[in-house]
Amino acid sequence: MEVADLIAAHVVDVPDFPKPGVLFKDLTPLFGDGPTLRACADAIVAAAGPFDLVAGIEARGFIVAAAVAYATGTGVIPVRKAGKLPGPTTTITYELEYGTATLEIPERAGLADRRVLLVDDVLATGGTVVAASELLWRGGGRVVGVSVVLELAALGGRSRIANTHSNLPIHALLSV
Ligand code: PRP
Ligand code: MG
Repeated sequence: MEVADLIAAHVVDVPDFPKPGVLFKDLTPLFGDGPTLRACADAIVAAAGPFDLVAGIEARGFIVAAAVAYATGTGVIPVRKAGKLPGPTTTITYELEYGTATLEIPERAGLADRRVLLVDDVLATGGTVVAASELLWRGGGRVVGVSVVLELAALGGRSRIANTHSNLPIHALLSV
């Protein structure tokens, strides 16, 4: 089976989660299926150019990032939500629909001049990826690509990323 079909078979739509009106894409069946998780990691590696480090966005992005890192023998840099890391950290605060969010990376993660592949499970509005990418650049890394398992194309994340990082390759294993 093609990886896109495997993904489609292992994503469950959950209406009204985490709040009314939101259709939540639950990837836990995908994460729980070994061959599918491996196929996703391998497909991300196959589509990406060369990189030295994988950055994963807390929390679901960590699962994908660790699998990709294992497949290539690279390390992982965690892009964490606020308050989880001891200092020193590099921090970015960005706008959400309601309020703001903060992401942080550790300064001692060996990011300087490394080619970083940024991965996450889902690309929706793109706000998280744009902030994480900016953060990784501020931290001294060179973001060479963005890879996600599932893109929700109607939410415009791809063009939002392109508006900020115009030449950054963005790859989704499945776009719906
Ligand atoms: C979800 C998803 C992506 C992000 C995509 O994470 O895992 O990281 O939203 O949304 P965006 O493209 O509109 O920014 P969430 O913040 O819900 O938390 P989690 O990964 O910790 O579950
Ligand atoms: Mg997430």
